[in-house]
Amino acid sequence: MQRILVTGGAGFIGSNFVHHLVHHTDAQVTVLDKMTYAASRESLAGLPESRVSLVVGDIADAAVVDPLVEAHDAVVHYAAESHNDNSLSDPSPFIQTNLIGTFTLLEAVRRTGARFHHVSTDEVYGDLELDDPAKFTEATPYRPSSPYSASKAGSDHLVRAWVRSFGVQATISNCSNNYGPWQHIEKFIPRQITNLLAGGRVKLYGAGANVRDWIHTEDHSSAVLRILEAGRIGETYLIGADGEKSNLEVVRMILGILGHAEDDFDHVTDRAGHDLRYAIDSTKLREELGWTPQYGDFADGLARTIDWYRENEAWWRPAKEAVESSYAAKGQ
Ligand code: NAD
Ligand code: TYD
Repeated sequence: MQRILVTGGAGFIGSNFVHHLVHHTDAQVTVLDKMTYAASRESLAGLPESRVSLVVGDIADAAVVDPLVEAHDAVVHYAAESHNDNSLSDPSPFIQTNLIGTFTLLEAVRRTGARFHHVSTDEVYGDLELDDPAKFTEATPYRPSSPYSASKAGSDHLVRAWVRSFGVQATISNCSNNYGPWQHIEKFIPRQITNLLAGGRVKLYGAGANVRDWIHTEDHSSAVLRILEAGRIGETYLIGADGEKSNLEVVRMILGILGHAEDDFDHVTDRAGHDLRYAIDSTKLREELGWTPQYGDFADGLARTIDWYRENEAWWRPAKEAVESSYAAKGQ
């Protein structure tokens, strides 16, 4: 598998995967990215030009997608509109990119026979009760709550249908919440870190009891590469690192690391339809493909992520004011 097209490779998780490919394979990598507000050229800086090239374009534009897919052996599909809160304000780009974009890519791989890996989220399964011992598995029924998760659920269904009806050579992964460097400051963890670094306050939706299952983005990348190399066609693999924490716990950890009192935060307007709890059972991936996460210690990974945002203020600072005024307008 020498030539790999990575859609959304200038985003938070896609760019991490591009670095991972360069360091752990000898593949030639092309990034196809529309360079939306969420993309960052700096996240790809320093990679060898002989190995990685960037094409700026839309995954929903067949005129761009078709010749690119034709020229590659595999497509790893990260490109998406990815933020739940934005999907509540305006769902339309989520439908366009996550559904029409995925459809456009699937039609291209149907013609060329390229290997396809679809990167998705555990949010397609809806949520679990806080006191439920159960976790999501590959057999959990789809029950998405938000326009974002519904559009990702729809894209998963398209992939499965293109495998079954047209013999497309695809796998799917559904991963839990990622954290690490280069995550856009609209998202929970980097928003709170940069609020404190900028002299502002931490903003917790509702009571903060909601639970997310955190995984370092490096672990997500190693899992996707493992599935790309050894996953069975047509199969879904759940990716998670047993990192369940309530939002309140995460906020207290960030406050502690940055030297603030643990109650030094504001409760703000809760998200509409806010999913209570996500939790992943990744037994299939671990037992079938022998994958294990390397960033087991969330406190340590979080401290290193905080250091990264402290050292990379020039990267996040220009977006900070606009992100915060958009949240403030919604009482968040
Ligand atoms: P992100 O928003 O940081 O990056 C998305 C990238 O896709 C950006 O570079 C953007 O420019 C690009 N993009 C958007 N629309 C495009 C289009 N029409 N054509 C081409 N490029 C386009 O998102 P992320 O957090 O890195 O998530 C990447 C993928 O991983 C998504 O598919 C998301 O659903 C999935 N995922 C994310 C998480 C998480 O915690 N962030 C967890 C599980 C799965
Ligand atoms: P987010 O990073 O948006 O990821 P997702 O919605 O995909 O889980 O949010 C993670 C959790 O943090 C979610 O329960 C919403 C909550 N949250 C806050 O409490 N405050 C915030 O400022 C943000 C952005 C999110």
